[in-house]
Amino acid sequence: MAAQRRFWRLRCGDGPATAIRSPPSEPAPEVEIVKDKITVPAIASRKAEGPRVTMVTAYDFTFARLLDGAGVDILLVGDSLGMVVQGESSTIPVTMDEMAYHVRLVARARPRALVLGDMPFLSYQVSAADAVGNAGRLIKAGAEAVKLEGGVYQAATIEALVRAEIPVVGHVGLTPQAVHRMGGHRVQGRDEQGRRRVLEDARAVAGAGAFALVLEGVPLDLAREITQELSIPTIGIGAGPFCDGQVLVLHDLLGLSDGSRPTPRFVRQYAGLGALVAEATHRFCDDVQRGAFPCDLESYHAPGSELRVASEVPRFDTVAAMQGWAEQQRAAGLRIAFVPTMGFLHEGHLDLVREARRRADRVVVSIFVNPIQFDREEDLMAYPRDLDRDVALLRDEGVDAVYVPRAEGMYAEDFATGVGVDRLSVGLCGAHRAGHFRGVTTVVTKLFHAVRPHLAIFGEKDFQQLAIVRRMTRDLDFGIEVLGHPTVREADGLARSSRNARLSDEARQEAAAIPVALDMVRQALGEGMLMAEALARVFRDSIAAHASTARVEYAEIVDSDSLEPVVAVDRPAHFAIAVWIGGVRLIDNVRLDPGQASPSRLGRNERLVGGVSSRSHVATEQAVMLQARRGC
Ligand code: PAJ
Repeated sequence: MAAQRRFWRLRCGDGPATAIRSPPSEPAPEVEIVKDKITVPAIASRKAEGPRVTMVTAYDFTFARLLDGAGVDILLVGDSLGMVVQGESSTIPVTMDEMAYHVRLVARARPRALVLGDMPFLSYQVSAADAVGNAGRLIKAGAEAVKLEGGVYQAATIEALVRAEIPVVGHVGLTPQAVHRMGGHRVQGRDEQGRRRVLEDARAVAGAGAFALVLEGVPLDLAREITQELSIPTIGIGAGPFCDGQVLVLHDLLGLSDGSRPTPRFVRQYAGLGALVAEATHRFCDDVQRGAFPCDLESYHAPGSELRVASEVPRFDTVAAMQGWAEQQRAAGLRIAFVPTMGFLHEGHLDLVREARRRADRVVVSIFVNPIQFDREEDLMAYPRDLDRDVALLRDEGVDAVYVPRAEGMYAEDFATGVGVDRLSVGLCGAHRAGHFRGVTTVVTKLFHAVRPHLAIFGEKDFQQLAIVRRMTRDLDFGIEVLGHPTVREADGLARSSRNARLSDEARQEAAAIPVALDMVRQALGEGMLMAEALARVFRDSIAAHASTARVEYAEIVDSDSLEPVVAVDRPAHFAIAVWIGGVRLIDNVRLDPGQASPSRLGRNERLVGGVSSRSHVATEQAVMLQARRGC
């Protein structure tokens, strides 16, 4: 096939590329080889063999390069530019000068695709001589063939062009330059008379020597009949699927419009670039107004100048903006790690962020105090917030984007959907905070959809939450890896939490009893106490001994995967607790491994069931501190 032969393309400065068939010998070193250059014979041969012809309109260098790179066969520099570039209501005002100009821009892309130039209105209708002169201008500007509208009436002109060695593509059916005769952009060939007319036009074009034919706006059965009859390939637009190829206007294919013009029924939009352009521009304006653009890296520095710009992290507050950014990163092949938070960040959150940094190319952190996961309004109102401080901390950690959705953007007034994970949400916190986990899984789903991460990191401190999110992503095929990260603790072992900020000095002192009691449990296990009830009692007794105002909401041992309560620690399990101190609810957990129990001490199990002496509390204080620093 001609299309598969090797061609040379001569470098001719800025001018259009010239393709010539390669000689059998090795190519000379100063020429660039263009493989599979699409030529006029290559298109003509598609009728009998090879894939269907793909044609897209192009009006400038950048899009010509993009479309060519994507493998389109023909770049049509269409007079449709009158409508999509110039804003006219038809193609009639487009001039020869304008067409020649746009052909030159497209030809500068030196595409592998065939460059086809449209003959504008009145550039070929006046006389054949006129047509040859004008078509010649397009060829000199870089077109490899020209297209003109009309059939029977234009046959002689097509013949004249072919005699002048100018390859021609015909165009029949709905011919936009005849908009006034047709009374608008109307489908042609719907009645018997119209059908005959289109058929005769198609025959006339093929008979005059055109190498391909565009069929526009005709019923699909007529297009099929013409395609079967003609020996040249037909390329359809609004002509059904039976043609030898298809063409679309670039702006229609990409959805590159502001929606003010109706989209014809034959258009399939393969992207929604209009909305993306608006969104990107909105973000640019927003960044400029916030002083977030340009940053230091985007500025030039004079030698010796100390002046630097304090860097800003891109911040998004709408789903579309967040998704747009995420899609860009994904398209560039970058891996996104995501850390969802409710803000008021502390070392626990920041450790998750550092882990994310190690594991991905881009790190996104969300800050959103999610109202639907709070069971008590006072808790929601009292939840600490400091967005500026949070963003500054994240900037210092080198986070690439912060997602700060607004509550009204997340939950419309008639929001009615929830994501729930059965069974795992029933016990522990789920038993005491109605609807909490449904709120968490719903918001995490929404956050995942906005951030589109490859990986999400959650703290083991919220161990039930981690298990539930893991199960949700698995059950619902999110395709996101969920990673747990060890609990980060204060020096005295208390798990770091945004809620710790709400503890009074006295309550904070009492809260230190939690890690002490948890360690008592681990120690009891190490000494052979395996029964869950007994271990829970160790915890409760220890809290009672060290924190008189504390109230234990629950202290339970559950299977690490199913979260079902266990009777004895005969497999890996978690000891999970919630304790109220000074009006603040604190949660924590430790992993219990039966391997921790020394076999020689198993027999002492009974003795410990009754409780723990205060002497053993004191003895463990130091161990707790050490263990706490390691992170339980
Ligand atoms: P938040 O309490 O802000 O916690 C955000 C993430 O940080 C969670 O994955 C949590 O487990 C983790 N984290 C909190 N304290 C930690 C600590 N001391 N050590 C290690 N990790 C810690 O959890 C939530 O927010 C929300 O429920 C959320 C998932 C964002 C959904 O709204």
